[in-house]
Amino acid sequence: MKTVIVDNLVKKYGKVIALKGISFEIYRGEVFGLLGPNGAGKTTTIRAISGALKPTSGKIVVLGIDVIKEPLRVKKRIGVVPELPSMYPELSVRDNLYIMARFYDMNSDEFRERLGIISEQLGIKHILGIKYGHLSKGYKRRVDIAASLIHDPELILLDEPTSGLDVFAANNLRKLLRKLVSIGKTIVLSSHYIDEVMELSNRVLLLYNGVKLFLDKPINLRKILKLKKKVKLYLAKSVDRSLLKMLEKNIDCEDCKVELEDERVIVIHTDEPLETITLAKQVVEENNNRITDADILPPSWEDVFIKYIEPLEKRECGQCPLASTGVCG
Ligand SMILES: Nc1ncnc2c1ncn2[C@@H]1O[C@H](COP(=O)(O)OP(=O)(O)OP(=O)(O)O)[C@@H](O)[C@H]1O
Ligand SMILES: [Mg+2]
Repeated sequence: MKTVIVDNLVKKYGKVIALKGISFEIYRGEVFGLLGPNGAGKTTTIRAISGALKPTSGKIVVLGIDVIKEPLRVKKRIGVVPELPSMYPELSVRDNLYIMARFYDMNSDEFRERLGIISEQLGIKHILGIKYGHLSKGYKRRVDIAASLIHDPELILLDEPTSGLDVFAANNLRKLLRKLVSIGKTIVLSSHYIDEVMELSNRVLLLYNGVKLFLDKPINLRKILKLKKKVKLYLAKSVDRSLLKMLEKNIDCEDCKVELEDERVIVIHTDEPLETITLAKQVVEENNNRITDADILPPSWEDVFIKYIEPLEKRECGQCPLASTGVCG
């Protein structure tokens, strides 16, 4: 079942075209990841879906309701964690959450019951009496998330929910999101943390400059890009340029890259890590240096992002498998 349908969505802010006609669908019970560099249009997309922003053109249907025609009806059925905090700083956490609950037409008993569950799940029981404005950044974020869940919504939109959270809180939130999905909730998650989006999402929408670059399962990004493994070599002495050149010459494979990560650390992108290490050992020793340690690392999601986005930023369209979307014009 489709929880969200976005059809040819355009949003202009004066001369800036934040979204250039994107279309996609989100299914019930999936985590839908929104990924993209600063200014890609993630927040604009989330705000348009949630009814907080009127698109310039296009159509959005959420839970069967036309968002543009009936934004309030949609707002009451969904939960949103906005990019920036939106609570009353002078009010306590409990009062802020109560105001949200009233917006969702919950009575006091319903509020108390949900507050008990949510405050336990998000670890905010001990701060319910504290003014929101007095909280640390991470706790403010937890309260924002609590506010989005207070009315037990079917669809939850989270715009960078883990920014400001410590590792434990971020981890707990990921667990909570998985739990919500397991009971049939639908989640839209925008984040700068590529690993987080890739790990949690069933499908990922990669946005760049208001254009849809990629929409598929995270694993397919890897397949399309044929990402290489990384060999990290730790050397006894500083690396000189001639060694890098020699390595480049000797490790002769398609798209293999030799990089200097630190003055004593070389990174080689390769399909054959063991062979590469053997060969590099020889070259390094000929260069009067020595390998003291080596790591073989799988391609990271960071690499996925770099491989897609960096060529576009540098306008090296031929290097980017997605330049055909027209974004690199
Ligand atoms: N209220 C606004 N007025 C004018 N331009 C805006 C406004 N909001 C967003 N924009 C522009 O729209 C584009 C998309 O912005 P948006 O905030 O959706 O990106 P984002 O992907 O969420 O970025 P970030 O990762 O920095 O949060 C940007 O060029 C931004 O400058
Ligand atoms: Mg944003």
